[in-house]
Amino acid sequence: MTEEESHIESRMEGKDIYSPPEEFKEQANVNDPEIYKYAEENYEEFWADLAERLDWYEKWDEVLKWDPPHAEWFVNGKLNAAYNCVDRHVENGKGDKKALIWEGEPMDETKEYTFSELKDEVSKFANGLKELGVKKGDIVTFYLPMIPELAIGLLACARIGAPHSVVFGGFSPSALKERINDAESKFLVTADGYYRRGKVINMWENAEEALEGTSNVEKVIAVERIGRDDVEYEEGRDVVYEDLVKDQSKECEPEKMDAEDMLFLMYTSGTTGKPKGVVHTTGGYLTGTSATHNYVFDIKDDDIYWCTADIGWITGHSYIVYGPLANGTTTLMYEGAPDTPTKDRFWQIIEKYDVTKLYTAPTAIRLFMKWGREYPDKHDLSSLKVLGSVGEPINPKAWKWYHEVIGGGECPIVDTWWQTETGMMLITPLPGITDLKPGSATHPFPGLKADIYDAAGNSLEANQGGYLVIKRPWPSMLRTLYKEPERYVETYWSEYENDIYFAGDGARIDEDGYFWVVGRIDDVLNVAGHRLSTMEMESALVDHEAVAEAAVVGKPDEVKGQVPIAYVILESGREASDELASELRAHVGNIIGPIGKPAAVRFTRDLPKTRSGKIMRRILKKLEKGESAGDTSTLRNPDIVEEIREMVEE
Ligand code: WTA
Repeated sequence: MTEEESHIESRMEGKDIYSPPEEFKEQANVNDPEIYKYAEENYEEFWADLAERLDWYEKWDEVLKWDPPHAEWFVNGKLNAAYNCVDRHVENGKGDKKALIWEGEPMDETKEYTFSELKDEVSKFANGLKELGVKKGDIVTFYLPMIPELAIGLLACARIGAPHSVVFGGFSPSALKERINDAESKFLVTADGYYRRGKVINMWENAEEALEGTSNVEKVIAVERIGRDDVEYEEGRDVVYEDLVKDQSKECEPEKMDAEDMLFLMYTSGTTGKPKGVVHTTGGYLTGTSATHNYVFDIKDDDIYWCTADIGWITGHSYIVYGPLANGTTTLMYEGAPDTPTKDRFWQIIEKYDVTKLYTAPTAIRLFMKWGREYPDKHDLSSLKVLGSVGEPINPKAWKWYHEVIGGGECPIVDTWWQTETGMMLITPLPGITDLKPGSATHPFPGLKADIYDAAGNSLEANQGGYLVIKRPWPSMLRTLYKEPERYVETYWSEYENDIYFAGDGARIDEDGYFWVVGRIDDVLNVAGHRLSTMEMESALVDHEAVAEAAVVGKPDEVKGQVPIAYVILESGREASDELASELRAHVGNIIGPIGKPAAVRFTRDLPKTRSGKIMRRILKKLEKGESAGDTSTLRNPDIVEEIREMVEE
């Protein structure tokens, strides 16, 4: 233990429960534990009240129609998400309040938009989209870096009823192509590049490469983030964002959308190689994200709220764009890396803007711990009031460091468990009520029912590990998988009864009713908070001509949580070498994107297999963790296990 850690440990001695400071509780928006009982007993009313926080053109006839596993929320209600995120705040006299603060990676490159300015920009872009032929129901794909046009673009789509599908900017051309094709998207919004660790990344080149493999895209909108001079636009297909929007009217009537109309599509990794197109709708999604954002971050009118996620992932959709803006909160977005130009960039941003609420991921916290407290200590972080964590389990050591070093021992930490599919936080503390245990996401959001089941569907006793399930529908739940309705039922609602949501995570509930989520139980990896499918990586590997067979498993990593390790059997005649290993890593990186690159490639003559030929990834995982392989008697080739262990230990 370093001196630093032992100092923190000694201050925390004997404490594994943290009550929010009395002062915090008193001023919190919700501080009455009765809310749990009320919501549990009056579930629909509870959500109806939260939906009333939004502006509706027409009220719903029914709060919830539950025909398991299909839910409709706020049936026949009509609203517009962009109107709720922008216009209504202007109409309520908050036009001059800052809506969006953007900080570029190059120092001192910033932009700010008030709610009125945001309304103008959103309307202009919306009119531009219409001019290009985008109609209600058309899916618009976004492949953009973290620049304001991304947030503006989502709202512009929402304004005209065109669902968006955002593909994370770090994904490769082939991942982008696959998602454009699956969505049959006719429109792509991309950029000429962006800054990452001081370098210019050529996003346009990637987009062009993806476009070569698609035939459905008719129009491409290019945001000139960098202003490169080597981009060759294609006449008739490509249009520069600035040119498109500059003469557009600032008036654009929002479409009256049905509560159940699709707001967006978001692809996420599943257990098979093909990504799942998670469908979110309008009324329930906006109700769920705005309500949880408000309660969990204890939102006040003067908050400066910063979520460090990328809008390319669900966290950015729900908690950079929709939740905060629906609440009229000032939301901050940052383009770049945490260590550019120096390792105190985050803390410098917090000090500069007096950020009050911070939402980040355990992997980032562990990285900051590794860099040392001298970086945060250089800055005044006393504006912070609530600290959030999301994306993976936060280990108690990182929790305590976050609490002590970043929060000065004063800020409640909200460890929020949720998924792309859930749309909103489902297991989370309420900072004015919940006593916190480091490492536990604590309790289901008021009204929700969650449990731990064994394989047979029995509810398990305290501290027994099993499968996390959700036993009530919630407003922002996914409605289906795009074009794969059977896969929706099969993946989430078929493990047990058809009204029990199977999350795919392992967890336990302790003797005090606290939830401890361990992580995925399927072949999905969580690498630095990014969800990646091992199947996708395996198919990328076997796509290389030297590879006969491959298996990818996760290995625990101190900073990233997990890293992918590739086991490769070569085609006969091919020889293992360091060069080939690098080539394979690069190959996977090209197919999936840099985040999918295996940390190591292990060449092996065979893989542990059952008699029926199934690869036992479980054994590989154990070996990677340095654990005993367990029972190998069912293997066809038990002798390979020792050989692999030696290789791993080397
Ligand atoms: C994991 C991100 C433990 C979990 C919002 C889940 C967590 C997957 C937590 C979803 C948390 C997310 N504690 N594990 N607080 N938050 N996870 O779809 O395994 O990118 O199933 O959504 O991340 O990842 P996704």
